[in-house]
This record gives sequence, structure tokens and C-alpha cells, in this order.
Amino acid sequence: MSGNGQMTSMIVTRDLRKDYVMGTETVHALAGVDIEILRNEYVSIMGPSGSGKSTLMNMIGCLDSPTSGEYVLNGQAVQDLSDDNLARIRNREIGFVFQTFNLLPRATALHNVELPLIYAGVSSKDRQRRAAHALEIVQLADRMDHKPNELSGGQRQRVAIARALVNDPSILLADEPTGNLDSSTSEEIMDVFDTLHENGQTIIMVTHEYDIAARSQRVITLVDGKVEAQMSVDYYLARGLQKPTAAPAAADPPASPEPEPAPSREADPAPSREADPAPTLDTAPAPPPQTTPAPPPTAAPMDPVPPEAAPPTPGTRRPISNPWAPPPTPPADGGR
Ligand SMILES: Nc1ncnc2c1ncn2[C@@H]1O[C@H](COP(=O)(O)OP(=O)(O)O)[C@@H](O)[C@H]1O
Ligand SMILES: [Mg+2]
Repeated sequence: MSGNGQMTSMIVTRDLRKDYVMGTETVHALAGVDIEILRNEYVSIMGPSGSGKSTLMNMIGCLDSPTSGEYVLNGQAVQDLSDDNLARIRNREIGFVFQTFNLLPRATALHNVELPLIYAGVSSKDRQRRAAHALEIVQLADRMDHKPNELSGGQRQRVAIARALVNDPSILLADEPTGNLDSSTSEEIMDVFDTLHENGQTIIMVTHEYDIAARSQRVITLVDGKVEAQMSVDYYLARGLQKPTAAPAAADPPASPEPEPAPSREADPAPSREADPAPTLDTAPAPPPQTTPAPPPTAAPMDPVPPEAAPPTPGTRRPISNPWAPPPTPPADGGR
């Protein structure tokens, strides 16, 4: 954990578990998760619906506490923190972006972005200055006085990103941030993330879509509350993003330095998105995240994630630019 240049661990979890007791049944939402995420990394989390992605994000974001296991955030053992300290970390270190934006419907963009600063006790003048700056970062300086229903879906999500950034968090967590957006608007949001990442922001993003995940550096796949695979994005790019089975069935070479021509990241092969969803009013006028557990997952499509090679041993850190990519075992079939 000792700081060593850029290779600092931002997040380390060891055997992280979360059980939900439902009557006589216990759901093992997280069944022993070991991950490590470095400062300035940009990581996607994928996996079928119900595999524990949101639960993991809620643990990482200190929105909820694990049943057992260790979580070290920025060198601090989160499980040992008092509630007050946890709230402080949540407010200062974590920025959260949700699929449903979660903006206050009757508040202006500026006021929505100010909210976390109100909770942090920042003076009104400072709040406005910082909120305006965050809105500039997402290129909404000219929409500060607009309310959510006067903004497009992409603009609302950019307000939500500005709100997540206003405290200058160590980590930006985004749980299906493009799930409610059409594909060109998704691109717009991904461009914002790219810029944030280029400027050093550590980002963890849940997504169902390979072309979205392809904007990150590394993909962690969850299945049944466990890490099934951790692969560099190059691995997926080299296989045409969403159909790893399209690769030759015979022994795939280990991730080569010169992957075969990958589809353009600009192209949008995602078949699943429809035209712009109706700009419904934000339903959750929630202030910054409380300790409300995530709702049960909505019916989301299964990700066509094939079983892959075992994840690398935690602790064997590799440079970000150098994929984790263990030699993949060719999947027997598409996993769909
Ligand atoms: N608050 C909760 N109470 C009970 N079960 C929950 C709760 N939140 C999530 N779960 C269950 O935990 C599992 C993982 O859920 P979740 O993390 O939301 O999955 P994902 O985000 O990958 O779709 C699912 O079986 C889900 O039903
Ligand atoms: Mg989820």
C-alpha cells in the first residue's frame, strides 16, 4: 500500500462479502470479492443482472457496509471507521453518478451541484463558485439556471457528473451512467469521462455494454457475487468488443502487443439501445446518497461474458498500460 509514484492502490478489497437476509433466505450479493484499483485507473465492472455490481459499487462508495471482509480506501481501512468518519469519506472522497441521474427536480442545475457542498458545510459564496466551476467542466456553464426538466437526458447526466465532481473526489463511481441514454448521448457522457480520466480522475463504472466498457482500461467481470475475470480492455477490443467467441476457437495467443484491427471506439455496434427515452422527470429527489441499499435490479439483459481465465493474483500489480490479460481460454460457447 505504500505510496510508490503513480502505482498507488486507491482501492483494495479482500474477501469482501455482503449478505442480504430475506426472510429465511440469504442472498450472497457479494461472495468474496478481491479487487485492487490503482490511482488514476479507469475500470469497468460488467456482469449479468444480479451479479452484485451495484452492491460492490455501494461498498466501494461507502454507501453501505459489507457483512465481512476488508476494504482499504486510500490507505484507510474502511471497516474500522466510525459512522462520522465514514460519512466524511463518503462526502469528500467519493463522487457517485447513477443511471437515473437523481437530481432534485425543482432545483436549478447550480443548486443541484451545490448540494454536496451544503452537506460539507461550505459557505454559500464558495459553494456557488465551486458548483459553477464543476458545471463548466461538464460544459454546462450556460445551463446553470435550468431545472432538470428543462435539460436533455445527456445534460441532466452532466449535471449529475458535476455534482459528483464538486467535492473533488478521489474516485468517481458511475453505476450504469448511460443506461438511460441513447447512443449518441452516451458517447457525449463517455467523452466527459475520458477527459476526466485524462486529467487524473480515478473512475469505476458499471456498464452492460462493451462499447462503453471499451472506453475504460480494464474490465472486471462479476458473476454470482464473485470476480470471474479481470481483463484489459485491449482483450475485448481485439475480439470485436462484444463477441469474444468470434475469435478463432483454436488456442488464442496471449494478448499480443499488436492486437488485430479493433473496431473504432467511435463506432457504435451496441444493438440494444433504442432512441432517446422519454425525458421523464427524475423520480428520486434524493439528496446525496444515503445508506439506502440499492433496489433490486431491474430486468437487464445478460451480458455475453464468457468464462475467462482466472483473475490475476491480487497484489501482483501491473502497469496500467500493460494489460492484465492472462492468456485466455477460448470459451466453449457464447455464454449467452
Ligand atoms: N437491498 C437489498 N436487499 C435484498 N437483496 C438485495 C438488495 N440489494 C441487492 N440485492 C440482491 O443482491 C444481488 C445483487 O444485486 P445487485 O448488486 O443490485 O446486482 P447488479 O447490480 O449486478 O444487477 C441480487 O440477487 C439482488 O436481488
Ligand atoms: Mg445494478
